[in-house]
Amino acid sequence: MSKQKIFITTPIYYVNDKPHLGHAYTSIAADVLARYYRSQFGNENVFFLTGTDEHGAKVAEAAKQAGKEPKEFVDELVPRFEETLKNLNISNDQFIRTTNPEHEKVVRDLIEKLVASGFVEKKSYKGLYCIGCERFLNKDELVDGKCPDHKTEPLEQSEENYFFLLSKFQDKLIKIIESGKFKIAPEGRKNEVLGKIKQDLEDVSISRQAVEWGISFPEDPKQTIYVWIDALINYFSATKIYDKADFWPPTLHLMAKDILWFHAVIWPALLMALELPLSEEVYAHGFFTIGGQKMSKTVGNVLDPNEMVKKFGADAVRYALLREFPFGEDGDISEEKIALRYEKDLANGLGNLVNRTLTLAKSNNIKLLKPKILVIDKEIYKSNLTARQIAYQDIENLHFHSVLWLIWKVIKDATEIIDKKQPWLLAKENKETELSKVLNPVYDHLISISELIFPFMPETAEKMRSQLETLEPEQLFPRISI
Ligand code: MSP
Repeated sequence: MSKQKIFITTPIYYVNDKPHLGHAYTSIAADVLARYYRSQFGNENVFFLTGTDEHGAKVAEAAKQAGKEPKEFVDELVPRFEETLKNLNISNDQFIRTTNPEHEKVVRDLIEKLVASGFVEKKSYKGLYCIGCERFLNKDELVDGKCPDHKTEPLEQSEENYFFLLSKFQDKLIKIIESGKFKIAPEGRKNEVLGKIKQDLEDVSISRQAVEWGISFPEDPKQTIYVWIDALINYFSATKIYDKADFWPPTLHLMAKDILWFHAVIWPALLMALELPLSEEVYAHGFFTIGGQKMSKTVGNVLDPNEMVKKFGADAVRYALLREFPFGEDGDISEEKIALRYEKDLANGLGNLVNRTLTLAKSNNIKLLKPKILVIDKEIYKSNLTARQIAYQDIENLHFHSVLWLIWKVIKDATEIIDKKQPWLLAKENKETELSKVLNPVYDHLISISELIFPFMPETAEKMRSQLETLEPEQLFPRISI
């Protein structure tokens, strides 16, 4: 990537309940990218934004069920989101809340501008609304009359609302997507979106009469601005609020496939109507599933990221989630799977390798020398790139799973060197030169590994770096009983 200013976003999460591991997943991936780009372009050239989506029917209903006023309810929950980010070592530069009055003002200003653009009309609408999704569903999306993600029956709603004339953007959307001016990834999802745009593009309601908990519509206080429009604008309002105007347009919006349509279709159309430069790319990853079912608060099959961090540590959770299955695809996750990764790949894999190498070197007074460039087996990737170049390319392409696979292949190779050459025997026979010949390449590998894992496992990378410098071995991943 040659661009110097990098603006990365996660979705802003609904605060209808505490955060779960699904939210953590997107935040971790965005964090890996942010840390990687900071290492390439410097901290001042990266803006990593996350936050919370606090208006709308879904949040208002949850507040009602808790017997609280919506604002009181969100004010109590938002710190849980911030705390979770901290526990996972997420390095977001800002955290935006849609109840921030400064954000509300930007939203109202943009809606005024949108109305003035001529792309807004008032019309009546009747449809099936899913509060879990905060959107109208088409009949053909339902499974047994229910929303497939939330397993609830949508409610029939009819109102007179303001509509954004999305249908007028059909040709323009096709053009920007097909030409690559606006990127949608992975490729399969881009094709799905394009297919849907070509089939039919309905106008979208951008206001609600029945929802009080929202930003009031300019010139029509009986209506509130549709929560999704309010939410999408966070990406823009944040650049105003936090003095980051020079980061516009966003480089990458990360999310799961559930909300791709909003980001890949409604959002660029809104930006075109507002004559604002378009975001460069949206990337939709897969779903975490538990027994094949999407992990979701509404369904109730969630894992708590904070508990996972308490048990395994932030780095292990970050590693396990990105290692378990390819980023663009769905995959099943469970506590057992995280525990297995911890034991096999981290404690027995990386942890042991560092420990054995440094212990042998220390107890035999072996001098470990600064490394050369790490070159891995050509056969692995059928290329003669260095592991570092391959890893960087993979990170930029969001192939996190492949980077981690590659690093652990190097760990496995290095472990095999030690197992095969049995350096402890050399130590017994006082063969220092030979021992040094075995340990030095492994040490080389370890230094490179500590650099490569940094975006994924920042704490471990730091600990490794300091152990490799002082040559003082210490347990990186203590044994845990589960
Ligand atoms: N508030 C909207 C987003 C507005 S962005 C302008 C929203 N919030 S959400 O709380 O439902 O978060 C959805 C996002 O959380 C997904 O797109 C994904 O990033 C993450 N995930 C939530 N559950 C997930 C899984 N089970 N699996 C993977 N990611 C998940 O939609």
